[in-house]
Amino acid sequence: MTDIRPAERRQLTVMLCDMVASTALSLRLDPEELADVIQAYRRRCADVVTTHGGIVARQIGDAVLAYFGYPRAHENDAERAIRAALAITDTQWQAIGAADLRVHIGIATGLVVVGNLPQAGEELSAIGSALNLAARLEALAEPGMVVVAEQTRRLSRGLFEYRDLGPQELKGFDQPVPAWQVIGERRNRSRFHALRAAELTPLVDRRGEVEVLERLWKYARAGNGQAVLLSSEPGVGKSRLAQVLSKRIVDRRCLRLWYHCTPNLQGSPLAPLVRQLTLAAGIAQENDDGAKLAKVERLVPEATPNRAEIVPLLADLLSVRYERRYPPLGMSLQRQKQRLFNELMELLAAYAARSPVLLVVEDLHWIDPSSDELVGILIDRLRTLPVLALFTARTEFQAHWDTNGHLHSIALAPLERSDSISMIGLLCEGKGIPGSMVDQIADRTDGLPLFIEDLTRDVLESACASAADSDAANARLADVAIPATLNDSLMSRLDRLGSAKTVAEIASVIGREFSYELLARTANIPEDDLREELYRLVDAGLLVSRRSSAVLGYAFKHALVRDAAYASLLRKKQAVLHARVAQVLVEEFPETADAQPEWVAHHFQAANDVDNAVAFLVKAAKLSARRSGFAESISQLEAALALLAVQPKSSDRLRLALIVHRTLGGIYAEYRGFSSAECGRAYNAALDLCRELGDAPEIFSVLSGLGSFEITRAAFGKCEALADECLSRAAAQQSKPPFIMGHLLLGGTLFLKGELAAAREHLEEGLRVYEHDQTARRARQVLYVQDQKSTGLCYLALSLTLMGEVDEGVRAAEEGLRHSRALGGLHTVNFSLCYLAAVHLIGGNFAAAADCATKSLDMAREQRFATWIGISEAIRCGALVGSGDRGADVLAGLRRGIDGHTEIGAVAYQPFVRAQLGKGLIEAGRGDDAVGALAQALKQSEATRERFYAAEIMRFQAEALTRANDVAGAERALGESIELARRQQARLFELRSADALHRLVNA
Ligand SMILES: Nc1ncnc2c1ncn2[C@@H]1O[C@H](COP(=O)(O)OP(=O)(O)OP(=O)(O)O)[C@@H](O)[C@H]1O
Ligand SMILES: [Mg+2]
Repeated sequence: MTDIRPAERRQLTVMLCDMVASTALSLRLDPEELADVIQAYRRRCADVVTTHGGIVARQIGDAVLAYFGYPRAHENDAERAIRAALAITDTQWQAIGAADLRVHIGIATGLVVVGNLPQAGEELSAIGSALNLAARLEALAEPGMVVVAEQTRRLSRGLFEYRDLGPQELKGFDQPVPAWQVIGERRNRSRFHALRAAELTPLVDRRGEVEVLERLWKYARAGNGQAVLLSSEPGVGKSRLAQVLSKRIVDRRCLRLWYHCTPNLQGSPLAPLVRQLTLAAGIAQENDDGAKLAKVERLVPEATPNRAEIVPLLADLLSVRYERRYPPLGMSLQRQKQRLFNELMELLAAYAARSPVLLVVEDLHWIDPSSDELVGILIDRLRTLPVLALFTARTEFQAHWDTNGHLHSIALAPLERSDSISMIGLLCEGKGIPGSMVDQIADRTDGLPLFIEDLTRDVLESACASAADSDAANARLADVAIPATLNDSLMSRLDRLGSAKTVAEIASVIGREFSYELLARTANIPEDDLREELYRLVDAGLLVSRRSSAVLGYAFKHALVRDAAYASLLRKKQAVLHARVAQVLVEEFPETADAQPEWVAHHFQAANDVDNAVAFLVKAAKLSARRSGFAESISQLEAALALLAVQPKSSDRLRLALIVHRTLGGIYAEYRGFSSAECGRAYNAALDLCRELGDAPEIFSVLSGLGSFEITRAAFGKCEALADECLSRAAAQQSKPPFIMGHLLLGGTLFLKGELAAAREHLEEGLRVYEHDQTARRARQVLYVQDQKSTGLCYLALSLTLMGEVDEGVRAAEEGLRHSRALGGLHTVNFSLCYLAAVHLIGGNFAAAADCATKSLDMAREQRFATWIGISEAIRCGALVGSGDRGADVLAGLRRGIDGHTEIGAVAYQPFVRAQLGKGLIEAGRGDDAVGALAQALKQSEATRERFYAAEIMRFQAEALTRANDVAGAERALGESIELARRQQARLFELRSADALHRLVNA
């Protein structure tokens, strides 16, 4: 029991053996004799257990508890336990003077925590349901019987005969549990006699696949791009085939581009591309900005069209500063992503113009949504390029691309048995293992190359470990269910590495790949020892080393090797190591932590440090949004919320949740528009949290975001309440931006309701404070996508126009646009352009309105600002109608505008856009339709109380009625229009309607 280690998680086979009717024995024998018998019985059990590779964990009275699979795992621990049990039940006990001694044995296999568990107060113990199950099965077994659990039977299937005892109701188990009596060894096992591999090629089989790939490469090279999706279960050989394609099929001079998706970066937009570009450019942490940019420039061939545009896009993606040599990108994030994708395709075309290209994307089952989108574009684009794209994925990956002529898929099957045998032969490199052993490895591994490699090496290693062990190595290997056994086999190889196993475990916490530096700082192992252990791991084929630029890195040979090493760590130990990795990243690799916050979040999360995990997820979400990965950004924030949801409440946590919701609101505003339901939901949740916290300083930005949502939804009562809250809270503090915000929100709301004088007062007050307050001017982020001054001027311009001060209105709107342009925020500029167009339209300057609206529409489409697309189109067409355009296109454009505005969930300005359609229908001579459209506009205006345009709608109605010769109706409508306009102080509309009435009665 010398090599008992601190507790770890692993698969264990537990055997419990007990004497039957020892009470009868105790009556027959005197106490001293009885003590001798029991001791001899125990000794026999211990001998049998140890010769079968198990360990006696405990002896309580007559019961002997043994473990198989600890401290070292064998690939056939279940088989070993059963053989030991059969040996014990077969024992002739008369030798110890107790011929009537009988035992009964229970065996179960499962995941347990085993080792030195201080809380159990014993040297070696294990915790896990396999222990209880073994005890229950032992109780169930009649004298002389060995009863095993389902898992144990499965792991030794084919080696023994069993009797099914049927499902058993066992104490402590909710469901009936299957139980099997071991009858004995199976006699008629088929034997397969040795086949020796004659092939020398290290690649086994795959001739069909290679042929297909050769053909596709030929097409691709000639300029007919091809794409292939290669899929299989893990370890079947996808990566290997990709390598064969690259090394043997593709011409040596051709460019090869490799991208890898990784599980921890699934939420990080374009992670594989970022990594590949960083490596290809050779960017290192210690490079200064200039050096990094020069490296990015070298990635783009001189002759590439748009070179000056590609470089800043790539630099921005890699977080490399480019502003000193290139103008700012100046486009919305959505637009930037689209440009990046287009330019990447141009770059690929430029590469392909020099030589055909092989492009490999590995492990698509771990792809992030943005990369997935890019792959879709790539598949479409490469059709006319000399490019062969190979994608590998496990079977769970569902491709969503349209199938077409140049997109193929290959499902990679496990190796045929004969190929498995060839492969084993190749792996043995003439060391020669008995044919029966080859047969059994082939039997067990089901054609899975990864497993074949591993198990063969395992056997060779254990055979080499000691000569005495070679018998054990030659012992028959049991048929085992694949995942459990691959794991077992990996475990047994790791175990054999002794102290190097610890290094593998620590490395497994970092991930499939890791840099030497990070491992060294995490591991706390003297440098020489660490290098030595890493060397041993590489030598054993468990790790591969790779050096890129100045960084020495390693990777587990296969993801499953990493998983096996990781799984052997106790959960608690995993958490401690994750915490350590996170700490080292944050403290010693701050650039990496900044560039990959999601990865840091993963470690904090695994360390159960929820607060830090959430903080880093928020960072990750902001970074994703910057890379226009809105989908990733949202899922990161949702992951953060999910983490917080299961934590006990505390005010710090509430504050974190508040930050998450607020960020989510801002991201939805940008992604889907302020009017989107998701945006409202996020801001409402944030506001609830502000209230729960009492005095969160974030409340103003939340009130502002929510105000922007409610105003686009025409929920004026809510807007007023929010504005009042802003103003009363602002009064209690020095800072001015909240005060301005309250006035602007109230001003905007009052304008929409048609209370123009009051609106004007609040807007002017807000703007006055903005001009006088430095902090306010600087704090333009208070409104997420629009500057406060721009917002105030737009509403003021409309109010002034309606009040009859048309020139002042235009001046205010133009000033707003100038201000927005000076700030440079594209969304703010678009907003100001759209409002200037509306001011011109309402004021009757149709040429200027059409011009501005066209610019606004173009910009909104280009930058994908959904908020401004529908309404800009409606204003543009309204202006064309005003200029006398009677074409059918105009009506279609008006309808499109209304649809666009409706689609984003916007309720405000609906009466306004519908009124433009009504006016268009009048001019097109479709009076009846016009009356309908206008009635609907008025009805909506009444329903939401958005009345600023109502007087004008009534005037349009009168016009329609006049054309239909309903003079009385027209007079009535004009009368109402005048009356309403007068109440609202909308002099412009009042004058227009009065003029119309005058002409009508004098006609
Ligand atoms: N046909 C083959 N001949 C010889 N060795 C092979 C063959 N196919 C696979 N191997 C070996 O088996 C191991 C596993 O293969 P590989 O890594 O390619 O699997 P994979 O399908 O990419 O798995 P994953 O889905 O986990 O990425 C590798 O070490 C590889 O070299
Ligand atoms: Mg692979």
